[in-house]
Amino acid sequence: MAIDVQAVRRQTRGVQNVTHLNNAGSSLVSRPVAETVMGHLRREEDIGGYEAAEEAADRLDNVYSSVARLIGAQPNEIALAESGSRAWGAAVYSFPFGAGTRVLIGRTEYSGNVVALRQLARRHDLEIVVLRDDPYGQVDVGHLQRELERGNVAMVALTHVPMANGLVNPAADVGRVCRAAGVMFVLDACQSVGQMPVDVESLGCDVLAGTGRKFLRGPRGTAFLYVRASVLEQLEPVMLDGHSAVPSGANGFEIRGDARRFESWETGVAGRLGLGRAVDYALSLGLDAVQERVAWLADLLRNALSAVPAVTVHDGGLTRCGIVTFSVRGSDAGTVRAKLAHHRINVSVAPLPLDEVISVPAGNPDAAVMVVRASVHYYNTEAEIQRLVRLLG
Ligand SMILES: Cc1ncc(COP(=O)(O)O)c(C=O)c1O
Repeated sequence: MAIDVQAVRRQTRGVQNVTHLNNAGSSLVSRPVAETVMGHLRREEDIGGYEAAEEAADRLDNVYSSVARLIGAQPNEIALAESGSRAWGAAVYSFPFGAGTRVLIGRTEYSGNVVALRQLARRHDLEIVVLRDDPYGQVDVGHLQRELERGNVAMVALTHVPMANGLVNPAADVGRVCRAAGVMFVLDACQSVGQMPVDVESLGCDVLAGTGRKFLRGPRGTAFLYVRASVLEQLEPVMLDGHSAVPSGANGFEIRGDARRFESWETGVAGRLGLGRAVDYALSLGLDAVQERVAWLADLLRNALSAVPAVTVHDGGLTRCGIVTFSVRGSDAGTVRAKLAHHRINVSVAPLPLDEVISVPAGNPDAAVMVVRASVHYYNTEAEIQRLVRLLG
């Protein structure tokens, strides 16, 4: 069923204040999400934090079922975390890397993941191999296949939707060749969950990280990790506490058997409940309907921007999503962003993908070429898009 735009806008207070085209940064939360978070804080105020958590125990448990339903997993394969990076890192840092093995990544791998992998590369003497793009700017699955055939690959890590490009990488093809090679496939889905259907079975990933605040419209400081049940035992968390493991025998400990082994005991319960509400909200709209509207609005924006002589649109890919990257001749990205902010239009700036990120001299992020990133969601309107384009025309 198509999305009732007026209804979702009525449930989104922020649309009265701003034209929010920074959904790849952090979306406007819906009223049900805000009420869920504030409602729980109110209970913490009224009866105490532990007591409020106890009261909400069933709803808290349902968050795992909701996230599992969102991505086609089982609840015991889900852990909750405070950021996408922490979720991704909890699994990746726990991987038993053999010295001298190789990790294959795409050119648009998220920069934070690249930094983490470089640290792991130093620790374990790994080689990070950056796969080529195909002619469309997506990861070249043929090159991946050839690198897998060369052998000695510990892991393939891919970012599903890059932070600064409107493309959707062919993750299911990557999953297929990884599975055939018996190599662990880690998918960063932080920019794809919430704006399109994401299903771990059809994608064939073993690990998936998602964040709450972006297209899922959850509160900040929320995220989740999926670890396929069959690989869970291979990943011993780098840090344990009384939630992830229990003491056993005189000197031993026993790590829990589900994905919550990657969590810490203490957490923001209100945020987690808010994340669950956001996931249920997305599921009730239907991710197919969300994707259809988001892709349609983004294409509208790309086409309108392409017609402006001073504007260059940078997105690649065969399948595109809600992220639109562009530059304006004669203005740097920061200036464009400031001008739009003056008119209460929220966009962000981002580095061009990825040789820029990989080749940026250490500690000198200013060397990256920045572009403007406008990212639409289903609650945006044609009129909002036209307003943005008029200001650049
Ligand atoms: C593709 C991608 N992966 C991971 C992240 C990190 O998510 P978080 O900021 O929740 O750690 C981001 C954040 O922008 C992202 O764009």
